Amino acid sequence: MEQRKILITAALPYANGYIHLGHLVEYLQADFWARFQNLRGNDCAYICADDTHGTPIMVRAREMGITPEKLIANSWEEHFKDFGDFQIQFSHYSSTNSDENRKLCEEFYKHMKEKNHVSRKTIKQLYCNHDKMFLPDRFVKGTCPKCGSKDQYGDSCDVCSATYSPADLKDQHCAICGSSPVDKDSEHIFFELNHFKEYLQKWLPKHTSGEVKNKMLEWFNEDLRPWDISRDEPYFGFAIPGENKKYFYVWVDAPMGYVSSTLQWCQKTGRNFEDYWKSDKHELYHFIGKDIVYFHTLFWPALLKAADFRTPTAVWVHGRLMINGEKMSKSKGTMVPARCYLNHLNPTYLRYYYATKLNSSLDDFDLNFEDFTNRVNSDLIGKITNLASRGAQMLNKKFNSIMSECDFDGLKLIHKFQRQCEVIESYYEAREFAKATSEIRTLADEANRYFDEKAPWKSTDEAATQKVLTSTLNMFRILAIYLKPILPVYSAEAEKLTQEKPWMWNDLQKILTNHKINAYQHLASRIETEKVKAMMDESQKINQEISTQRAKSSTASTATVAVNAGGGTSEIEIDDFMKIDLRIAKIVNAEAVPEADKLIKLQVDLGDGKPRQLFAGIKAAYKPEDLIGRLTVVVANLKPRKMKFGMSEGMVLAAGPGGSELFILSPDQGAQPGQRVK
Ligand code: MSP
Ligand code: ZN
Repeated sequence: MEQRKILITAALPYANGYIHLGHLVEYLQADFWARFQNLRGNDCAYICADDTHGTPIMVRAREMGITPEKLIANSWEEHFKDFGDFQIQFSHYSSTNSDENRKLCEEFYKHMKEKNHVSRKTIKQLYCNHDKMFLPDRFVKGTCPKCGSKDQYGDSCDVCSATYSPADLKDQHCAICGSSPVDKDSEHIFFELNHFKEYLQKWLPKHTSGEVKNKMLEWFNEDLRPWDISRDEPYFGFAIPGENKKYFYVWVDAPMGYVSSTLQWCQKTGRNFEDYWKSDKHELYHFIGKDIVYFHTLFWPALLKAADFRTPTAVWVHGRLMINGEKMSKSKGTMVPARCYLNHLNPTYLRYYYATKLNSSLDDFDLNFEDFTNRVNSDLIGKITNLASRGAQMLNKKFNSIMSECDFDGLKLIHKFQRQCEVIESYYEAREFAKATSEIRTLADEANRYFDEKAPWKSTDEAATQKVLTSTLNMFRILAIYLKPILPVYSAEAEKLTQEKPWMWNDLQKILTNHKINAYQHLASRIETEKVKAMMDESQKINQEISTQRAKSSTASTATVAVNAGGGTSEIEIDDFMKIDLRIAKIVNAEAVPEADKLIKLQVDLGDGKPRQLFAGIKAAYKPEDLIGRLTVVVANLKPRKMKFGMSEGMVLAAGPGGSELFILSPDQGAQPGQRVK
């Protein structure tokens, strides 16, 4: 059989979050598949990287008070370690923030421009005057135009699932600072996707599954709309050559990461890059989740085509992971970080369980923790591992660890196990992991039935007993080889038991006779329910901590009211000064905001008898009760701002470096609430 050369990729995880059990659906199935190919003697590379650019990462870094470079370096370390500990073996794991990736983006863009696939248009977008940036859909929040639920994102409603554009939201506000955004014009650069309409229409049916094709072809009744590939500053990403302060949209340089990561891998291992991305010589597959199909089956093949690169052999799409029948939820603790799982449970269990669930369809699938526990305990431990522990331990004890020959019935069954290899192979090849494991489980049942019928623990015929144990261990060995793509560490332990070199798929056809084995070492133990519970508890705690930290840092970065006179400011006209309506105010009430570490909520009286509410970041400097009754100075005509904890209708003036050293201004005696400060 000729050796196939294959390159597979999994979608690049965003660098602004942890890897969770949902992500692992993808990284694990791609790992199963790559390992299967390599075990069969094919040459399959598994390429991935962190997706490091875009607004969310920039904003997150700002909130944390670190540079985006630092943030993505930290994530890279964490992600890489999580994957390794889940036994996911990448050929290369890179980052989209690399020189290679920048150069590729520039090269692609050059081709696009030369061939006139690029156009320009001025568009209106929501802009936050406070944060000085255009707001991506996810950074606009407001009331859902359909069901009226408050605090929904700009692209879709979590409550009624309606999708809309941010402009449709009622009472829009900036998700970062809470102020209301304004419309602002900006010129953007577009990729003319429609130039590739015919190409894509032919390409889709040949390179995606029927389900995906049908869904995507719905878009083809009309012209394909131009794709906006530019973003304005501030943006963490690659600058577009020849443009002033414009950046490539992250979804341009993200899939490019597949290519640049391959390039690095080729340089590292002496492979020929062109064979992978410039010609159809080798096979190329993308594993992705169904939420990003549009990017991978329309934009990406078109971009590749435009730049004279090859397009993928196929794009393979999987469904979403649900947990206990519901969408993963941070507050319920079901959004379990990979690291949190590892703190409590063995990765082998999850690898096994996912394999029993995964198929080649787009259907969502459920991780039910009760089912997970039962499945692993009854199949992997009860059926499969028990064969090894019972067979090997008796051989160790009674027969000096020596396997003899197989008995007649045993041998018949072993041959049957070996013959199943074509079926199991075809399931692996087709990513029908659930079917492959079901087949393996059926064989395990037969092996157990055989063992129980022969009841070697009862027999007084030594030679016959040794043969039954020999057959049993051979059966276990075949099952362990079948499971090796899914359970590499487990199988490596089994290789130690039989004292063999690392198995290849062909080793299935071998039968061990007159062979000395090792002393049996524990292969895997049962899942204890308490461990699952402990994991969920920890996960809930971790997610709570993250969300309170975010709430704190986002208010801290926006609710500073101190006027810092130390820094020089440019001159202003008296008219500019007169625009600011400074008033004497009496603080009639003050209370700390418990969820924010800096904020005090104030009610101030401006002499009109209508107390106003405002927030001041002075919690570390004042006790709320000490403020009540004091006079101070506030900016009275500041546009009201909706903040996380309510409306803020003004600003208190204070001086000082911040923290506990903040001093609110007070007038001399005699001043009255409401008087203008001039
Ligand atoms: N950064 C983009 C991909 C860029 S690829 C050029 C992205 N990142 S992600 O971190 O949100 O998701 C990475 C992959 O994990 C995606 O394929 C996504 O579908 C998958 N999953 C994330 N959550 C998932 C579930 N709950 N269930 C199954 N897969 C999920 O998208
Ligand atoms: Zn803002």
